[in-house]
Amino acid sequence: MNIILIGPPGAGKGTQAKRMIDRLGVPQISTGDMFRAAVKECTAMGLKAKECMDKGALVPDSVVCGMVDERFQKPDCVKGFILDGFPRTLEQAKSLDEILTKMGTKLDHVVVIDVPDDFLVERLTGRRTCKGCNYMHHIKFDPPKKDGVCDKCGAELYQRDDDQEATIRQRLKTYHDQTSPLIEYYGKANIVRMIDGTKSMEDVQADIKKAIGA
Ligand code: AP5
Ligand code: MG
Repeated sequence: MNIILIGPPGAGKGTQAKRMIDRLGVPQISTGDMFRAAVKECTAMGLKAKECMDKGALVPDSVVCGMVDERFQKPDCVKGFILDGFPRTLEQAKSLDEILTKMGTKLDHVVVIDVPDDFLVERLTGRRTCKGCNYMHHIKFDPPKKDGVCDKCGAELYQRDDDQEATIRQRLKTYHDQTSPLIEYYGKANIVRMIDGTKSMEDVQADIKKAIGA
């Protein structure tokens, strides 16, 4: 099954993708996680990406599309994928169409996790991400049993550099300007599933399950 998750920063794309991968037997492909890994490894792409991420701006389309195209070649994508944070521009959506045509496959569902901006600053400033397994805790909504330690793998939790309020506001603007038009783009193919992302993590997952029938 081929799925895209669209939603503003903090909507819960990563949280929901992690709850779907085992059930659906497909990988989560998070372009944000891929860029953070490149930043950690200090690659040339990582340095370029960090500049954009710290400003709340998007990494250039050519860089992102090449990276995703390469990721699709890995064997874990044979049964499909959950794209988390890609595509984010119309240019990226068109490039994805071409990649999928080349692969002889197509999208099944575009799941839009809809959350108003007012909720998102609290979600993002309270997020604590695991350095080991990338699981996202939240100090209020999903607190770890032990402060600063991931429940899932025991590694240290950290706060993302782009989870500062000023950067969050810029990321929200970038989402509304450049990414939300994709909802209309995919609307034409009748594959958009709108989900109320203000509910609890469990209820959002149940609604997604119902919407995609799996
Ligand atoms: P990316 O890492 O994708 O960040 P994002 O889109 O801003 O989204 P987040 O990861 O911040 O939020 P999320 O929706 O995954 O929420 P989460 O589940 O963690 O991208 C980062 C940067 O990389 C971009 O700004 C850009 O620069 C670059 N980039 C990435 N992809 C790119 C692309 N395609 N093109 C160009 N540039 C790109 O949840 C958030 C918190 O809320 C967590 O603490 C969680 O526990 C909590 N939470 C989740 N759901 C709920 C709920 N239902 N109720 C209460 N709390 C909840
Ligand atoms: Mg995420």
